[in-house]
Amino acid sequence: MLNLGVNVDHVATLREARGVSYPFPGEAAIACEEAGAWGITAHLREDRRHINDEDMLELARTVKRLNMEMAATGEMVAIAEKLLPHSSCLVPEKREELTTEGGLDVLGNKKWIGECVSRLQSGGIIVSLFIDPDERQLDAAAELKAEYVELHTGAYANASGGAADVELGRLIAAAEHAHAIGLNVNAGHGIEYVNIKGILEIPHLKELNIGHSIVSKAVMVGMKEAVRQMIKLMKPYSK
Ligand code: PXP
Repeated sequence: MLNLGVNVDHVATLREARGVSYPFPGEAAIACEEAGAWGITAHLREDRRHINDEDMLELARTVKRLNMEMAATGEMVAIAEKLLPHSSCLVPEKREELTTEGGLDVLGNKKWIGECVSRLQSGGIIVSLFIDPDERQLDAAAELKAEYVELHTGAYANASGGAADVELGRLIAAAEHAHAIGLNVNAGHGIEYVNIKGILEIPHLKELNIGHSIVSKAVMVGMKEAVRQMIKLMKPYSK
């Protein structure tokens, strides 16, 4: 079965756009769970541009399975050690980016990322590494004993025509390789209600993490309906 993790960051983005107290990521998360989402993801960025520390604390207390998306920094690892989310996904972070660009360079930062992975795992937190569909990065993730990788689907989402087919081919090959070396495979970034059709071609997927498109749809149809529509599209998955 393919599970849906809903990223609620952009509920907080809407709040921050006005500097008010609403809408509430915690309330959105509960609606997502009630509509059938398996998990909730939130990214506590170093600049706190959307989700803040209080949001994260509330989510950690209230949701069934919180996936804390975070940069591999000492500050974030210490927060995760306190909040003890169900899982954490380590991502690269640049201050000037609009959203996470590119995957984590596990290969180039093995020692530090390895330290983060083992600290998080010692706290009983499942660790996922967000990486591009690149065999060498997958091998490095397996070497560090991460339980999961999340394949970065952004390049596929941003491409069209033949270029999208090439990107999808990369994701398929990466998922095959990850599975063969014992990694659990998730995918995320830029997945929406139309391009998800291609995503379902990727084998061995356990979970999709989807944020912007669901929050955007929720503006039109409500959060529960937006989640239900996405889950319905994921149902045919059988790989
Ligand atoms: N997975 C990861 C690791 C991400 O960094 C993001 C963006 O925060 C997502 C999934 C969700 O991406 P989107 O908002 O484009 O669905």
